[in-house]
Amino acid sequence: MSDYNNHSGGTGCFRCCFSFTLTLGFTSLFMWLSLHTSNPILSIQDIYIPSLNKTLNSTSYQSIYIDLKFDNKNKDKGIFYHQSNITLRYNNSSIVISNYTLAGFYQGHNKKARRKNWVGTYGVPWDEAVKVVDGGELAVFRVDLVTVIRFKILFWKTKKHRVVVGADFQVNDVGKKERKKGTRLRSGVPEMFSGKSPVGVSLLVVFSVFVLV
Ligand SMILES: *[C@@H]1O[C@H](CO)[C@@H](O)[C@H](O)[C@H]1NC(C)=O
Ligand SMILES: *[C@@H]1O[C@H](CO)[C@@H](O)[C@H](O)[C@H]1NC(C)=O
Ligand SMILES: *[C@@H]1O[C@H](CO)[C@@H](O)[C@H](O)[C@H]1NC(C)=O
Ligand SMILES: *[C@@H]1O[C@H](CO)[C@@H](O)[C@H](O)[C@H]1NC(C)=O
Ligand SMILES: *[C@@H]1O[C@H](CO)[C@@H](O)[C@H](O)[C@H]1NC(C)=O
Ligand SMILES: *[C@@H]1O[C@H](CO)[C@@H](O)[C@H](O)[C@H]1NC(C)=O
Repeated sequence: MSDYNNHSGGTGCFRCCFSFTLTLGFTSLFMWLSLHTSNPILSIQDIYIPSLNKTLNSTSYQSIYIDLKFDNKNKDKGIFYHQSNITLRYNNSSIVISNYTLAGFYQGHNKKARRKNWVGTYGVPWDEAVKVVDGGELAVFRVDLVTVIRFKILFWKTKKHRVVVGADFQVNDVGKKERKKGTRLRSGVPEMFSGKSPVGVSLLVVFSVFVLV
């Protein structure tokens, strides 16, 4: 009888310990999943500025063709994008030459999306820009994008993250982006300080393992 009681007590303790471990394990897993999010990679894939195409020899058509890529590299998380606000600038300066917006959308994990638009411009000093490219130099433009995203993890959505990225790009005398490869839009804030530090996640995992052992 007493043997049986002792055995029962041991099982209870084991069960308690087991469920505690399991709960902690799941909690760590969910925390890891929600912390380990990577922002989408945004890049300029293509640019065409007819006004700078020397063959056309005309600045009467002043729109710019811009092709942006949204790449969700997360293996297991979708991304909800709110509206994106995009600003184009000329000559790496504060001269705004175009503002446009892209509608919000949902992007599944490991998916890529392209947004190709002809956007109107205003206030570009075309004569100066044409002179620059005809002289064999490159005209410098800049694109800045601001949006808000939420990650979708299993069945829930994370809180909102603001994404603020931008890049300079150079255009040659046929009106094309000089760099053939995509140009990544980058954030001015280093990843370490943006609250998604992999170091922090690793520390959490290491800590959880210590508690479990
Ligand atoms: C520049 O304009 C010419 C004449 O219209 C056209 O044939 C050529 O494809 C244009 N260049 C680019 C890069 O589109
Ligand atoms: C470009 O057009 C201007 C007039 O708009 C003309 O004077 C000039 O010769 C043209 N240049 C070329 C290379 O066709
Ligand atoms: C644009 O300006 C920033 C600082 O204002 C500078 O760091 C960067 O090198 C400039 N880029 C070009 C292409 O001039
Ligand atoms: C374009 O966007 C910039 C930055 O948000 C803003 O300062 C500027 O007033 C806007 N211009 C127009 C014409 O909407
Ligand atoms: C850019 O602006 C500077 C003045 O800030 C000017 O000297 C230069 O010629 C401009 N460059 C281009 C490519 O338009
Ligand atoms: C985009 O622009 C609209 C209108 O100016 C503004 O209400 C919205 O907050 C902007 N979005 C972001 C992410 O800044």
